[in-house]
Amino acid sequence: MSESGHEILIGVTAGIAAYKTCDLVSRLVKAGHGVSVVMTAHAAELVTPRTFQALTGRSVLVEMFTQGGTPIPHIEPARRAELLCVAPATANFLGKAANGIADDLLSTLYLAFSGPVLMAPAMNCEMWSKPAVQRNIRQLLEDGAQIIGPETGHLACGVNGTGRMSEPERIFEKISQILINLNST
Ligand SMILES: Cc1cc2nc3c(=O)[nH]c(=O)nc-3n(C[C@H](O)[C@H](O)[C@H](O)COP(=O)(O)O)c2cc1C
Repeated sequence: MSESGHEILIGVTAGIAAYKTCDLVSRLVKAGHGVSVVMTAHAAELVTPRTFQALTGRSVLVEMFTQGGTPIPHIEPARRAELLCVAPATANFLGKAANGIADDLLSTLYLAFSGPVLMAPAMNCEMWSKPAVQRNIRQLLEDGAQIIGPETGHLACGVNGTGRMSEPERIFEKISQILINLNST
């Protein structure tokens, strides 16, 4: 299943699975989509924005307040994009999005975006099972966000459990499916 020629916004937060998002972005670009990446400042500590810049051929937005950048960086990308996918979505990001907190560029963009949103949570299994995180997931689902994963398996922290980000291929398929549904409505 594949769709092409859409404008997709990928949000990257600071989970170790951010390296897998490079593969997801590469697949989306190869499928013919225009892909813009917004990273949190913490995510930029794990994967360099330059990697996503090279993969997309576009500048990567991290900061809300920059000299000489996009004048209103939280509005313009939100207007242009047809779909927002946050992968990986940290416990921190999920909590902010579920509660309407907009204290950085990505969380503000989420609030400013009116199209379909897909989130791919990834975290340690204890974090995932925490009532606060599960409460935030229920809230996000109620708010209309779609959640993919997390999967059960080997986690970066060295244990087996639920918390692995879904594989890029699965997220790509889910994005394609959402785009097809978008076209048919
Ligand atoms: C190496 C490393 C890996 C991390 N992996 C995760 C993760 O997979 N999921 C998660 O929720 N937090 C993870 N964290 C913690 C988050 O980075 C931390 O909560 C941070 O404040 C999230 O910021 P952000 O949501 O703005 O990107 C990790 C931290 C480090 C240093």
